[in-house]
Amino acid sequence: MFSFQLLSALSSVVLLASAAPAFPTLPKKGECCDTSAAIMDLPTNQTQLVTPTTAPLFVALGVGIQNYTCSATTLKYTSTGAVASLFDLSCIDKTPAFANIQTVAFKAWSAMPASISATTVGAKIAAPTLLGFHYFVPSPSGTGISPKWDFTSTGKFAGNSTAFVLAAKAGSISSPVAPTTNVDWLTLNNVQGALASKIFRIDTVGGQPPASCVAGTADITVKYTSKYYLY
Ligand SMILES: *[C@@H]1O[C@H](CO)[C@@H](O)[C@H](O)[C@H]1NC(C)=O
Ligand SMILES: *[C@@H]1O[C@H](CO)[C@@H](O)[C@H](O)[C@H]1NC(C)=O
Ligand SMILES: *[C@@H]1O[C@H](CO)[C@@H](O)[C@H](O)[C@H]1NC(C)=O
Repeated sequence: MFSFQLLSALSSVVLLASAAPAFPTLPKKGECCDTSAAIMDLPTNQTQLVTPTTAPLFVALGVGIQNYTCSATTLKYTSTGAVASLFDLSCIDKTPAFANIQTVAFKAWSAMPASISATTVGAKIAAPTLLGFHYFVPSPSGTGISPKWDFTSTGKFAGNSTAFVLAAKAGSISSPVAPTTNVDWLTLNNVQGALASKIFRIDTVGGQPPASCVAGTADITVKYTSKYYLY
């Protein structure tokens, strides 16, 4: 059941999309394809993000938000986590739509009113198969929070309690495109869970906070999209 708001928001997205590259022929819901030939497109002038020697297990589109709080001492926003829905890209990996899908999805996502969820937008606009969710949990070390990619409630891993990965950042580079707008590209290593041993966040769009803040301002959320590769 779609609200009028969603229908009107989606029709404005169709207008936006007409200027963008053609939409892929969407695979059927629930369908995933072979990832053995999928390759990350990484900048060559850096050593932080290194392509693993094995093929990726999952290639996903993330559609979500980055959360920030204003530090009263530095007057800059600091990250307090993120929440995203993860959609399967394996079936469009070799199509022309793949390269810019994060940009097409971001245009749709940023045009949506706050009442429309990332899961709704991603599934309608980008890729119908929801792989799972990305969010933060208290770190097992007892200090701070850790990012988690959780496939335990969706798709073929539903009910499988080990189908997650809790990870720790192992390296990063500024986004090669518009680094003050687009969040960093990252590599993270498994700390817990059986889903994957390494995760990469690349091809980011959006997610960066304003450069400074006024002490006492409320926490903010900034929409973003990216690709995630799980190895
Ligand atoms: C981020 O903000 C959203 C929206 O306010 C909230 O639902 C979510 O729990 C927050 N997550 C973290 C890790 O702060
Ligand atoms: C690598 O190249 C990108 C794109 O040309 C550039 O924006 C970036 O600053 C370079 N990074 C380094 C570490 O040289
Ligand atoms: C549960 O998920 C893990 C991680 O994805 C996988 O390695 C394992 O084979 C799954 N177990 C079953 C019974 O499907």
